[in-house]
Amino acid sequence: MAEHTPGENPHFRQLGGENAVRSLVDLFYARMDQNPAYADIRKLHPADLSGSASKLFWFLTEWTGGPKHFSERIGPPALRRRHLSFPIGIREKNQWLACMQQAMNDAGVETALQAELLHALAKTADFLRNQNEAET
Ligand code: HEM
Repeated sequence: MAEHTPGENPHFRQLGGENAVRSLVDLFYARMDQNPAYADIRKLHPADLSGSASKLFWFLTEWTGGPKHFSERIGPPALRRRHLSFPIGIREKNQWLACMQQAMNDAGVETALQAELLHALAKTADFLRNQNEAET
């Protein structure tokens, strides 16, 4: 593994920088749009996904340790608050994560890096759930 300063998040560089994050996000929304397995989360999004893609690109760039595009353009991530207007339950969480896993596979993200990112994303997605459901 490449060296990095302790405490620094190396994921942005490991993914391949901004172009790679942008491609991943574009694949994520293309799959969400095309694959009926993600229909429940697709219908929560606007017809035109380009704005959603820009926001997720800015967020993931920053979240993986790259430039602070999201904070600079939009403000504090406050993801839970930003998702409160969408009903997010276990089904929506699972669809989002499956869609992201498919996008990572299709983007050719290396297996170990995929596992690390998905582990962290699963925690974030779980924190965004706002429906009163029992855990399975
Ligand atoms: C758990 C299932 C999730 C669902 C159903 C969901 C759904 C949505 C929807 C419908 C939007 C609005 C899109 C728009 O305004 O164009 C949105 C925005 C956003 N989502 Fe998610 N999301 C989920 C998880 C996540 C996760 C895990 C992340 C980050 C890792 C994330 C990051 C974002 C960001 C950064 C925005 C833009 C926020 C804003 O500026 O208002 N989402 N999400």
